[in-house]
Amino acid sequence: MTDRYAVVGNPVAHSKSPFIHSEFARQTGQDVKYERLLAPLEGFRATVENFRAEGGKGLNVTLPFKLEAFELTHERSERASDAQAVNTLKFDASTLYGDNTDGVGLLRDIEQNLRFPMQGRRILLMGAGGAAQGVVGPLLSVRPERVVIANRTVDKAQRLAERFSARGSLSACGYAQLDGQQFDLVINATAASLNASVPELPEGIFARGALAYDMMYGKGTASFFELALSEGAAQVADGIGMLVEQAAESFFIWRGVRPQTRPVIDALQAQ
Ligand code: ATR
Repeated sequence: MTDRYAVVGNPVAHSKSPFIHSEFARQTGQDVKYERLLAPLEGFRATVENFRAEGGKGLNVTLPFKLEAFELTHERSERASDAQAVNTLKFDASTLYGDNTDGVGLLRDIEQNLRFPMQGRRILLMGAGGAAQGVVGPLLSVRPERVVIANRTVDKAQRLAERFSARGSLSACGYAQLDGQQFDLVINATAASLNASVPELPEGIFARGALAYDMMYGKGTASFFELALSEGAAQVADGIGMLVEQAAESFFIWRGVRPQTRPVIDALQAQ
């Protein structure tokens, strides 16, 4: 019998997850059907319970439900607890298991696909919302020289940094306070690219050979990439690779098989 999975969100119509997971299923010969599930803003729990009652095996969770998904789970991985958010739900007879594959997706994209080892590097993480929260623990796990979290609302960055301060060199500040510092990797985890805008960075923060990475993808990333290249960044990348890598990790959690990500990243980039 075909096993059913889905991505649940609001909105969800433009999600690329059904494409990615059907490619994975085809490639690995897994008998899987993957759908889109639009949950009403007040009806996330009911949507999940209904899908599970119908025999669904697992869900990917996207905005704005990752926090609610975390609260719904009976068991969670350590990385989900760190992120306080769940993007992967796995169902069995009695338990609702929650994991978060966003962080590992980011690490694999940067280190393996883009061949940019992060150990010993200076990393700037812009933003302190849900997207940033999911990647602070994973970033510190690769032993960078330091991670600085910068955010418009500084106290949000400070609260986030405090939670992880025991795990490495981590600090928080506003954008203006970055003046005079340089970074090898600048990750945009803000929602600024949604409006084709860029956080107000002081000049000179991109070190020689720096990588500028936007966790978003699509047209809105152009302003950030333009700024980064004009400031001397050597390489820019959007979040397509991260999207496919987090999906591959979810697929592995559900099916125990690791799909190849490169052909799927290439296909999405060509679209
Ligand atoms: P997400 O889950 O995508 O991270 P979020 O939790 O609403 O969404 O967080 C959005 C992040 O983008 C925040 O860090 C926000 O900064 P503030 O906390 O100061 O609001 C940041 N952000 C959004 N638009 C921005 C802009 N135009 N310039 C700089 N930062 C922006």
